[in-house]
Amino acid sequence: MSDYINIETTESVLKIGFNRPDKKNALNGEMYYAVRDALISGADDASVRAVMIYGTAGNFTTGNDLKEFLDFATSDKKDFPAKEFLDVLIPYRKPVIAAVDGLAVGIGATMTIHCDLVYASEEARFQMPFVNLGLNPEAGSSFALPQLIGYHNAAEIILLGGMVTANRAYDMGFVNAVVKQSELMDTAMDAAQRIAELPPTPIRLAKSMMKKHFTHKTMETNDKEFHSFVNRLSSPETAEAVQAFMEKRKPDFSRFE
Ligand code: COA
Repeated sequence: MSDYINIETTESVLKIGFNRPDKKNALNGEMYYAVRDALISGADDASVRAVMIYGTAGNFTTGNDLKEFLDFATSDKKDFPAKEFLDVLIPYRKPVIAAVDGLAVGIGATMTIHCDLVYASEEARFQMPFVNLGLNPEAGSSFALPQLIGYHNAAEIILLGGMVTANRAYDMGFVNAVVKQSELMDTAMDAAQRIAELPPTPIRLAKSMMKKHFTHKTMETNDKEFHSFVNRLSSPETAEAVQAFMEKRKPDFSRFE
């Protein structure tokens, strides 16, 4: 349970909403665990036929709470809630639909790779700033993203580390449709309800058949990325990037080789 996560089931659709708008829905440990637990309950609940993940106006989520990255690097904490969330989301058996308005940064962007349908508002912006933060890709994205959208598109997102507009993301092939902000929730919910009305076993079978080999390799990649990611959290580049964020200044990487 988290006050920052809204969970409700309507018409067989489990709706999970990020709700920490003053921090642009940055995800902290309790939020990851609340989403993970909701996903697990939804998987076991026969009345849930699809899941929808959404944010608040202008913010899907700006990814992992950077303060928690700092805490992890400077303490002997060993649990990593983001990984536990991804370990449930990546192989999830039921369809997951993302409704993305505004910022989808870091895991906010990479989690959409593991959703089955992704709808974005015209205002949506995707960013995977792992290199910018002195880190490496996560969520299996170093394997999954080039597979899904081609190497050069993936390199544009991961190596340049900049914001990608909703239309560019659509052209690259990692969102299904770009709609007006006012139509986003209805569009995503319509898709979820269409799925909810179809027979559930064939839906799960189809998802599993389409993703079986892909999911296996993505999970394997996610594990490898994670080990490196955790090491890099205490790298001097990450310290500089996170410190600069806290101090609201541009990071200076000029001293690094
Ligand atoms: N972790 C912790 N706090 C975050 C956050 C994050 N990922 N994203 C936003 N916030 C907080 C800011 O610290 C700020 O808090 P404050 O009002 O107490 O100072 C508040 O949310 C508003 O964010 P702000 O940075 O002022 O908004 P902006 O519109 O100027 O910039 C971003 C938006 C997304 C460019 C900027 O917030 C950002 O770079 N966030 C970090 C994204 C990131 O690197 N995520 C992790 C990827 S692995």
